[in-house]
Amino acid sequence: MEFRVEVDGVEISCLTCKQRDVVYVHGSGCDAEVWKKQLCDVGGVAIDLPNHGKSGSAEISSADDYARYVAGVGRELFGKATFVGHSLGGAVVQKVYLNHPEVVKSLVLVSTGARLRVLPEVFDFLLTHPEKGAEAVVGMAFASNVEEREEYRKLFCERAKTLVDDLRICDRFDLLDDYRNGEIEIDVPVLIIVGSDDRLTPVKYSEFFRSVIPNSELVVVEGAGHMVMLEKAEEFNAALKDFLS
Ligand code: COA
Repeated sequence: MEFRVEVDGVEISCLTCKQRDVVYVHGSGCDAEVWKKQLCDVGGVAIDLPNHGKSGSAEISSADDYARYVAGVGRELFGKATFVGHSLGGAVVQKVYLNHPEVVKSLVLVSTGARLRVLPEVFDFLLTHPEKGAEAVVGMAFASNVEEREEYRKLFCERAKTLVDDLRICDRFDLLDDYRNGEIEIDVPVLIIVGSDDRLTPVKYSEFFRSVIPNSELVVVEGAGHMVMLEKAEEFNAALKDFLS
């Protein structure tokens, strides 16, 4: 089922199948559909970030800007929720916790990091050669040949500009030293999930989270790449359900 929530004058498009106080946030160039294998099995609400999918447009220049809209949806629908973020979405849910802690019950950090530097050549390549750029990104994002691979190759090619805008936000996102210095202390339960073969946000990034977030649990899904929730949905959903219960 599709519905909309208005936050600060922007219509945020939401997708759901089964009720649960969980908000899913997609990564760069994606939309709510990336959570299609979780919505009916685990439950919750997946949103299209502003300027993505069926959501309205907004001025966005940082993960903090996205976090305002995500927190607004969580507040409006549930008061307090579990926020699940993939890649860029993982950066956004960290900012939801830091900037709007009153709406956060727990966090799930999926294929993400405390810093998300991007290979510099990816930006130009995507803008000048979207076909080849999308092929390269998909090659790094999927570790297996699941059917969605082709779908996302086409999507990243069509949305090359959006993807580049999002990747620029990732590139500027950096909380690494704040975690290291103890300036960030997360005191809600955190589940960290990563694929063993993730080439965009390597397992090392997730192990870092595990080392600095006391109440956290790390699940490494064997054989999965960056798109772990699509590539190994059964294992992913089992870990998520276990955490939520
Ligand atoms: N968590 C923990 N450690 C991290 C980290 C994170 N999120 N991000 C970086 N680091 C570590 C690196 O592993 C490295 O450690 P080392 O010195 O022990 O090897 C150090 O911090 C510096 O890394 P980084 O800031 O990434 O700079 P770099 O110059 O080494 O590498 C890139 C820059 C872009 C080549 C590199 O980040 C990369 O390969 N990124 C993955 C590809 C990509 O584009 N991903 C998209 C993410 S959305």
